[in-house]
Amino acid sequence: MTSIVLYCRPGFEKECGAEIQEKASWNEMYGYLELKKNQGLVFFHLHDAAHGEALIKTLPLKRLIFTRQWFVTLTDKIALPNYNRVEAIVEALGSEWQYDDLRMEMPDTNDGKELSKFCRKLAVPLRQGLRKAKILSGKKDSFNADQDGSVLHALFLSGQEVILGFSLAQNSSPHVMGIPRLKFPSQSPSRSTLKLDEAFLYFIPRDEWETRLTSGMNAVDLGSAPGGWTYQLVRRGMMVTAIDNGPMAESLMETGQVKHKMMDGFKYVPMKQNVYWLVCDMIEKPQRVAKLMSEWLLNGYCKEAIFNLKLPMKGRYSQVTNDLQTIKNAFNEHNVKYELYAKHLYYDREEITVHARLI
Ligand SMILES: C[S@@+](CC[C@H](N)C(=O)[O-])C[C@H]1O[C@@H](n2cnc3c(N)ncnc32)[C@H](O)[C@@H]1O
Repeated sequence: MTSIVLYCRPGFEKECGAEIQEKASWNEMYGYLELKKNQGLVFFHLHDAAHGEALIKTLPLKRLIFTRQWFVTLTDKIALPNYNRVEAIVEALGSEWQYDDLRMEMPDTNDGKELSKFCRKLAVPLRQGLRKAKILSGKKDSFNADQDGSVLHALFLSGQEVILGFSLAQNSSPHVMGIPRLKFPSQSPSRSTLKLDEAFLYFIPRDEWETRLTSGMNAVDLGSAPGGWTYQLVRRGMMVTAIDNGPMAESLMETGQVKHKMMDGFKYVPMKQNVYWLVCDMIEKPQRVAKLMSEWLLNGYCKEAIFNLKLPMKGRYSQVTNDLQTIKNAFNEHNVKYELYAKHLYYDREEITVHARLI
């Protein structure tokens, strides 16, 4: 049987599963789910073995909100001996295919964290063994995730069990388990700063930063206090209008790049049409935020927007679908072309992050 293994935030397996099942069915590919509760793992077992590769070729990973990373299985669970683990993995893979990179992965749980030490130790001999057997091409150093090629995944469930599979470099996350490890900047006034840092990294291709994420741009931050998101804009050289009744960190005000307006983010309208970025982290009803964001873009008040939509306790997948539909409906009514992507990012908790722009 072929399965797709999907990684998500622990506790969101139901949403991740519902989404892959729905989106696969749009492509007439069907299967059943096996959820690993609170382990951040979902198995989608496909009825037709050919559909594993077909699905990761046709469905862009960017279209999945709750999936951080995925791969198609090459093997079932393999029992690993205490010695000669490398040989056991090499033997299970055979010599038919060659891969350009290797990802050592594990469940995103406390036990999984323990396993990561084991994986780090095994990684070097495993890479060597795979290269020697010509299963791994020697390209790793020159290989970059934007190019064609496939990536070998080894998902360790314990030191004795592994599942092997592959993903396509162009349609998978460049990060192990889809998790970018970002460093918290000590000058930032809040930890939420990592959410916007990750969002820029995820939504805006690096080779477009010079035109879309650059110094001298004007930005508006709705629900800005104490300033973690504003910090990300300021550090990229932008001029920021920060809207919040709460206080902003003095250190940010001292940069001279921030104007703080104490007012309701739903009432603020920019004076000039020179705002490039709108970012919004107001803890508010998601439908209200969705409507506000589409109005800003349709009125030309900003060129691009990144914002959070809060997730409800129950029915999270259907609520998110409705929120996004509100935005799509507004754009469609105005006959505009747009780009709209949403992701449950690593640094998000009970919210998802959305990027939208008209094109
Ligand atoms: C999660 S915090 C924002 C954190 C901020 N992004 C940071 O990184 O430091 C949410 C903020 O939204 C603000 N807020 C909520 N509703 C608002 C509204 N209607 N207008 C303006 N600000 C609002 C709150 O005062 C609060 O400071």
